[in-house]
Parts: sequence; structure tokens; C-alpha cells
Amino acid sequence: MLKFLLLAAAALSAEQTLSIIKPDAVNQAEEIDAYLENAGLRVIAAKTVHLTPEQAKEFYAVHKDRPFYNDLVAYMTSGPVIVQVLEGEDAVAANRKAMGSTDPAKASPGTIRADFGTDVQHNAVHGSDSLENAKKEIDFFFQPEEISCKTSS
Ligand code: CMP
Repeated sequence: MLKFLLLAAAALSAEQTLSIIKPDAVNQAEEIDAYLENAGLRVIAAKTVHLTPEQAKEFYAVHKDRPFYNDLVAYMTSGPVIVQVLEGEDAVAANRKAMGSTDPAKASPGTIRADFGTDVQHNAVHGSDSLENAKKEIDFFFQPEEISCKTSS
């Protein structure tokens, strides 16, 4: 009974978040997924997409007034990316901890960006920064039926 209650509590606190493996890092997707799994995150949906400029502009619209916006859009459309739905306890925070700081030079050793990123633009992965944005970003790329195990809505 106690085990059941603990499992039910864990399922209730499970979150989903969106991860993008960026063009330069797609060839290292297996290694990056191992970091995510070590952080307690399960990949419950994944697909390779080649973003159009319109998609990249919309996805990163929050940065549209930043000086790096056009370069970011150009980079994110320069080759295929892998979009993934991750699930786990406190998935948004767990993924951000596993990714490390935006700038790989400032990211802690052992984080994805420190180990696979090159610079602040070529930083290997994107991850949702809040649960609210995670829901929006998952909806941007995935239909509900594409997600294998949905524990939160
Ligand atoms: P990401 O998590 O995908 O979210 C926005 C992206 O903008 C970020 O990772 C970086 O790749 C990029 N970015 C953020 N700050 C800078 C910057 N100062 N110069 C260039 N790119 C940046």
C-alpha cells in the first residue's frame, strides 16, 4: 500500500518538458540522451525536424528584439534538429540542471552544454525554462497522440 502511494505521488509530481538537440549536436544525440537519463528524465517522444525560417522565428519570438535573433534563426535552420519530450520528476528544473548555463564556457563540468557545446549560440541543446513554456513548446512540435506516456496535461 505504501509503495502504491509513493508511486502514485511520484506519478502526480511528474512533469514534461521540451528539449531540442541543436544542429551541431545531432550527431551526439545518443550521448546527450544518456546525460538526460542520468538526470532521471525519460524521452517519451522524439522526432527529427528541419525547421523552416518561419518556424524558428515563431519558436524564438521572445528573442526577436535581441541582437542575436537573426543569427539564432539562421543557425537553428542550418540543419536538422531533434525535438524531444522529456518526462520525470521536476522535469523542467532537472533538464535545466543537466543542460547547464546557456554559455558553455560558464556551464559546470559534466553538464551537456559544457561537454557538447562550443559557444553561446552553438550550445548543443535548448530546454524549456518554465512549466508554462514547456506546455507551449511541446504543443508547438507535437500532437498529443505522438506522446507515448502522458502523465500531465
Ligand atoms: P536556447 O536555450 O536555445 O534559447 C535561446 C538561445 O539564444 C540560447 O539557447 C542561445 O543559443 C542563444 N543565445 C542566448 N544569448 C546569446 C548571445 N548573447 N549571443 C548569441 N546567442 C545567444
